[in-house]
Amino acid sequence: LRIFVPIDSSALSVGAESVAQAIRAEAERLGVAIELVRNGSRGLFWLEPLVEVETPAGRIAYGPVTPSDVPDLFASGFLNGRPHRLGHGLTEHIPYFAGQERLTFARVGVCDPLCLEAYRANGGFGGLERALAMSSVELVQEVTESGLRGRGGAAFPTGVKWRTVLEAEAPRKYVVCNADEGDSGTFSDRMLMEGDPFCLIEGMTIAALAVGATQGYIYSRSEYPHAFRTLQCAIAKARDAGLLGPDVLGSGHAFELEVRMGAGAYICGEETSMLESLEGKRGLVRFKPPLPAISGLFGMPTVINNVMSLASVPIILSKGAAFYRDYGVGRSHGTLPFQLAGNIRHGGLVEKAFGLTLGELLYDYGGGSASGRPIRAVQVGGPLGAYVPASQFDVPLDYEAFSQMGAMIGHGGIAAFDDRVDMARMARYAMEFCVIESCGKCTPCRIGSQRGVEVIDRIIANQERAKNLALLDALCDTMIKGSLCAMGGMAPYPVLSAVKHFPEDFGIGESAQA
Ligand code: NAI
Ligand code: SF4
Repeated sequence: LRIFVPIDSSALSVGAESVAQAIRAEAERLGVAIELVRNGSRGLFWLEPLVEVETPAGRIAYGPVTPSDVPDLFASGFLNGRPHRLGHGLTEHIPYFAGQERLTFARVGVCDPLCLEAYRANGGFGGLERALAMSSVELVQEVTESGLRGRGGAAFPTGVKWRTVLEAEAPRKYVVCNADEGDSGTFSDRMLMEGDPFCLIEGMTIAALAVGATQGYIYSRSEYPHAFRTLQCAIAKARDAGLLGPDVLGSGHAFELEVRMGAGAYICGEETSMLESLEGKRGLVRFKPPLPAISGLFGMPTVINNVMSLASVPIILSKGAAFYRDYGVGRSHGTLPFQLAGNIRHGGLVEKAFGLTLGELLYDYGGGSASGRPIRAVQVGGPLGAYVPASQFDVPLDYEAFSQMGAMIGHGGIAAFDDRVDMARMARYAMEFCVIESCGKCTPCRIGSQRGVEVIDRIIANQERAKNLALLDALCDTMIKGSLCAMGGMAPYPVLSAVKHFPEDFGIGESAQA
C-alpha cells in the first residue's frame, strides 16, 4: 500500500511533515503496513499538503490534509481510495492537472526524487543514453532543431549558445546552471530541483557532452535550503552510479558537478555577476563582450543555462527534436511551466505549450482571484516585467507576441492583482526594488532608480505632476538605454506599463483638468 506525501518546500511550509508523521502513527496504531513515499509536489498548491493513495485505478488525491484529518481519512477507507470530503478523485483527472502538457515536469510529484530506480522506470536517462551515442556536433544540432530557447527569461536559442561554446578552443570548459531563481512569483526551478534533481543532472551531463565541458556548477540560493540538500544527495547518488565522475557510464567522458549557494543577492542571477560570485568575488556585473560562451568562468568558455532550459534537454534527446518542436506557436517551441502567484485562487504550476492566453491561465486554471474580485493587472516575467491590463488577457503567450506589446514572458512567473491595486505604488515598488538590488556598477541604474522613487513620490503627492511625469519618462529612457545590464535596463518596464495602462492611478486625467 503506497501513500504519497510531498517533501517539496511548498507542501512542507503548510505542514506536510506533520501529516506524514500522523499517517505513519495512525497506520502503526491500526497495524496496517504502508509504504510512505515522499514525492515532489504536483504543483496544485491550494491543495497542499496533497496526499495520494495508490489504487488499482490510479492515484487518488486528498487535500489539503491536516494531521487532525488523518484518523478520519483512515476510518473512511482512504487506503482503498474511498470518497472523503477532502477527496478529489484521480489526481490525473483533476482539471487543473489533466489539461497540462507536462514534458519537463513529467516526473515531478510522481516519484521519490532521490530514487534512481524510479527515475529510470519513469523514462529517466533515455536522453543521456542516446546522447552518449552521438557526436558533439549532432547533439548541438538536435538541440538547435528542437527550437529550445533560454527559459531563464531572455529566450536566446540554446543550440546557438552551445555551438559558440563547442567551437571555442580552450583547455577547459564549464557548464553552469543558473538556479538563482530570483523573480517574484516564480518557483519552477525550485520545484524541479526538489522534485526531479536527476533530470537536471542528466540535462547538464548532456550539455557537457555537447560542448566538451568537464566540470559543472549549479548556482542556487540560500533561500532554497531544501533544493540544495536534495541536489547534493542526488549528485552523490549519481556519482556512486557512475553517472558522474572521470568516466561517465564507461563512455570515456569526464564530468563532475557541484552545487554552490548564493547569499541572497538578486543580481547574482545575472549571468556575469553569477560568475563573479562563483569565483568567490562580490556579485558585480561584468562588461559584455566577451560573452560567457567565449570567456566565462575563470576565463574559460562556459555554457550558462537556466534550470528549466537544462531540464528540457533530456526529453528533447529521448523523444527527438521534432517531438519537442511540435509543441508551441510561431518561434516559441515546446512548453513552459507557468507559475501562478499573487492574488489567485488556484496558485501553482501549469506546464503548457506556448500559445495559450493569459486569460485561460488566470481563469481556467487559476480560477480567478483569491479575493473573488476582478483581476485588474498581472505582472508577467518577474519584477522587471511589464504590467498587463485585462484588455490584453487574450494575447497568446508567445515570446514575439508579448514583445510586440511591450511585455515579456520571462521565466513564466505570473503575479495577479485585483481591482484594489494601486498601480502608482506598484511603479514606485519597481524603482525601489532596483534601488535595493542594484549592484551599483553603473550610474543610470544606481542613481536613476533612487531618483525614480523620488519622482514617483512627487507624482503621487500631486507636486507639479505634469512636469514630473515628463521627467519620469526621460529618466526611464536613460535607464533603458544607458544601463549595463537588464536590472537597470528593464526596471523601467513595469513603471512605463503602469503609467500607460493605468493613467488614472497617476492622477493623469486630474492633472489635465487642474
Ligand atoms: P541577453 O539577451 O543579454 O542574453 C541572453 C543569453 O544569451 C545570455 O546567456 C548571453 O550570454 C547569451 N548570448 C547572447 N548572444 C550570444 C551569442 N551570440 N552566442 C552565445 N550566447 C549568446 O539577456 P540577459 O541579460 O542574460 O538576461 C536578461 C533576462 O533575464 C531578462 O529578459 C529577464 O527575463 C531574465 N531574468 C530572469 C530572472 C530569473 O529569476 N529567472 C531574474 C531576472 C531577470
Ligand atoms: Fe549593476 Fe544596475 Fe548597472 Fe546592472 S544596471 S550593472 S545591476 S548598476
